[in-house]
Amino acid sequence: MEYKLRKAEPRDVSDILRLVKELAKYEEMEHQVRLTEKDLLEDGFGDTPFYHCIIAEIQGESSSDDLKVVGFAMYYFTYDPWVGKQLYLEEFYVMDEYRGLGIGSRILRHLSDLAMKTRCSGMMFVVAENNEPSVQFYKQRGAEDLSQEEGWRLFRFDKDSLVKMATPAEE
Ligand code: COA
Repeated sequence: MEYKLRKAEPRDVSDILRLVKELAKYEEMEHQVRLTEKDLLEDGFGDTPFYHCIIAEIQGESSSDDLKVVGFAMYYFTYDPWVGKQLYLEEFYVMDEYRGLGIGSRILRHLSDLAMKTRCSGMMFVVAENNEPSVQFYKQRGAEDLSQEEGWRLFRFDKDSLVKMATPAEE
């Protein structure tokens, strides 16, 4: 099957949201997706993009068929004070019926090229403990499990905690 990768454009936000929801469903956390197309548009395509996306698209059976977005990776750049620039892989998903065709590996190759070009020293990501197929997928390609090897734990301050710590509105 013919597919190509390209950078996401503003017109892709509905497909991006569709795939974000599919991945959340796969992870059984679909109800946690609050983001809208408007958020994606503002956050990814303004003066300061907060994320970037690479899109995998296939051509339908006939050349007159529309191109269909079947997979994507969402990423951004972070900074590690020990080793410098890092690429952070936030979302990575290929639709069920298009898996096993090499699209995921091609996306990782594209991101690795980008990481080399921008002199990143690594690519970070989080995988749900019960997502064994993806854990294997990453490990086969050399990923290290830092929770296991270095004992890091993932933390978050949610919005309520932030509001409590932030300067009160009247100050
Ligand atoms: N479905 C899934 N994997 C299959 C498959 C199928 N029907 N048929 C074969 N595979 C194997 C491939 O042989 C390949 O094996 P390898 O690792 O030994 O090379 C691997 O699974 C898939 O490789 P590839 O085709 O390059 O990747 P992909 O296009 O299937 O995409 C994922 C990989 C992880 C993005 C995709 O499986 C996915 O979206 N999974 C669900 C969402 C997810 O877990 N995302 C990651 C969150 S951290």
